Amino acid sequence: MAIKIFRDYERLSQEAADEIISLVKHKPRAVLCLATGDTPRLAYEILVEKANAEKVDFSAVTFIALDEWVGIPPDNAGSCFFFLHNNIFKPLGIQAEQTHLFDALSNDLPSECAKMDFVIHKKGGIDLILVGVGMNGHVGFNEPGVAAALKTHVAELDATTQLVGQKYFNQSTALKLGITLGLDHFMQSRKALMLASGKKKAEVMRLALEGPVTTAVPASIIRKHPDGTVMLDEDAASLLKA
Ligand code: GLP
Repeated sequence: MAIKIFRDYERLSQEAADEIISLVKHKPRAVLCLATGDTPRLAYEILVEKANAEKVDFSAVTFIALDEWVGIPPDNAGSCFFFLHNNIFKPLGIQAEQTHLFDALSNDLPSECAKMDFVIHKKGGIDLILVGVGMNGHVGFNEPGVAAALKTHVAELDATTQLVGQKYFNQSTALKLGITLGLDHFMQSRKALMLASGKKKAEVMRLALEGPVTTAVPASIIRKHPDGTVMLDEDAASLLKA
């Protein structure tokens, strides 16, 4: 695992966008799994700008969802579906056939999970997974204490996630369950990028990078990834010893 520290959020975002673009240039049929959330927002803005300016061909890329809030419809601005469509798919002209997202309204969530596992398998695995880190150390909705061997599953969201998640919604919203790729998918992805920005992530990144590797802090598992890179701005790195 490598740790890269950037002076600020802009430089970090620039680098994350460049990583995605260079992969797609090198492998036009790449399978990408890109997290939602506030952290990668600027990276995606830069990605879209650069990809369009440089006419990078995304027409053969496959996009896999990382996670979704169960019960939240796709037209709700707080859903991961809405985020991905507005920040990535629409501006890059990605076709529906290229995307594999969760139906969070499904009354058969186990089959939603199985479908996602099947798609990932059929596509030959994920080339690049880009994740953020929750305030409790979660990755996707792999909450503290999750079993590392899990693939796609439905997770009970812990109190921190239920509370912090309110920031994505216009009104107070019940967030009890999430559907998510598992840590096994994260570890099997050929390349993993983990982004964290801001002072508020400094403590959880200290735990993830300097505490024990444990699913009590799911983000710590990146230390075992054969091609994992943690990208931090100076604020998020401010509590690291090294
Ligand atoms: C959310 C999502 C994650 C995201 C993380 C960090 O709840 N489930 O996929 O990466 O928490 O979010 P943010 O980047 O907004 O801090």
